Amino acid sequence: AIDISKIRAETGFITLDPGFKNTGATTSAITYLDGEEGILRYRGYPIEELAEKSTFLEVAYLLIYGELPTQAEFTDFQNKVSRHTLIHEDMKKFFEGFPTKSHPMGQLSALVGALSAFYPESLNPDASEEEDNLTIIKLLAKFPTIVSWIYKKSLGHPVIYPKNKLDYVSNYLNMTFGQLTEEVEIDPIVTSAMNKLLILHADHEQNCSTSTVRIVGSSNANLFTSISAGISALWGPLHGGANQAVIEMLERIKEDGGDSEKWLAKAKDKNDPFRLMGFGHRVYKNFDPRAKIIKKACDDILDSLGVQDPVLNIAKKLEETALSDPYFVDRKLYPNVDFYSGIIYRALGFPTDMFTVLFALGRLPGWIAQWKEMRTNKEPIGRPRQVYTGHPKRNFVAMKDR
Ligand code: ACO
Repeated sequence: AIDISKIRAETGFITLDPGFKNTGATTSAITYLDGEEGILRYRGYPIEELAEKSTFLEVAYLLIYGELPTQAEFTDFQNKVSRHTLIHEDMKKFFEGFPTKSHPMGQLSALVGALSAFYPESLNPDASEEEDNLTIIKLLAKFPTIVSWIYKKSLGHPVIYPKNKLDYVSNYLNMTFGQLTEEVEIDPIVTSAMNKLLILHADHEQNCSTSTVRIVGSSNANLFTSISAGISALWGPLHGGANQAVIEMLERIKEDGGDSEKWLAKAKDKNDPFRLMGFGHRVYKNFDPRAKIIKKACDDILDSLGVQDPVLNIAKKLEETALSDPYFVDRKLYPNVDFYSGIIYRALGFPTDMFTVLFALGRLPGWIAQWKEMRTNKEPIGRPRQVYTGHPKRNFVAMKDR
């Protein structure tokens, strides 16, 4: 690798790469991504196989610890996670203060950041690997509880406490769709769809939110606050917030009569700020492999649940038209992970403003793995440079003379 700091010391040059379009910030052994070929692998395992054969908690283990667990390792991990699913009762008081209609992502980032106040041992940058591991387990365990409580609050419903005999995803779904007053059976189709979607979102190397987690963590900030920063980065519609933006866009197109040509023309018009949400990617210049799996899953799941969603047809028409339009072809713009995921979330019963929170739930193991890797590798503090374009030196002018 080229030693940039040596070049700078010798020549005074720095690299200027707005948006880090071609700047590597780290080495990583977690996720392999080939944007030209449309390949994605976690720890060497193809995403297609993991989505088909694995569960989300197993993939979380793989990402965080580097290997698929044996049965004994998995049982131990699952038991540890189950032991920490409750959140401190005092956190509820703080949580109750949010306005009912406040955006779930704002609540999520605040609540995850607040965990650092309840678990101050997480603040120690010199914590042993074992101590760090306990913090990791706590975060993995409490996150679904927080996510489900945010949803229950939006409905004005009482929260449901975790049931530790359930597996990770079933427990989350029970806290989300369960009722205090009666037992609710979660459809296995829903559990399997959730596992698949969460696996597909679990890591994606140095994207905006993950780089944020690493850069915040590089100052030795604790895990909870580093992940809270990642959640904030994910919220934007150019990143994870795109899944909410896609459904809102499809709804607008539907209400406008469903004319895909007209909306594609808007997306192509450089004087119109409208972009085709869920299309394009910084790294993929080919089909996003996650989008391929999600598109198929979308058909299967809506079919199995007997859900007919008119926006699915609009999405398919938009994709078909865009993929034969020279504007999208020349720029290598394909559907990304967010294009069809929202349609599935909606069929499963989630409201639109929860979609990005579900993305965060899926991305959590990836963020944790990346934070852990950065810490284990003792990476230096992240501190980009700049090219100054402001005034040259000038003298202070007293207010009366300005
Ligand atoms: N609709 C219309 N035109 C687009 C789109 C789109 N969705 N995406 C890119 N383009 C065009 C740009 O206008 C630009 O055209 P130009 O060369 O004529 O100026 C060209 O394609 C390259 O686009 P950039 O914005 O330079 O690409 P960048 O890598 O910076 O952005 C991004 C990638 C942010 C994902 C972009 O494609 C986009 O805004 N997509 C819509 C939002 C979205 O779906 N985000 C989710 C991404 S996946 C994720 O984060 C989980």
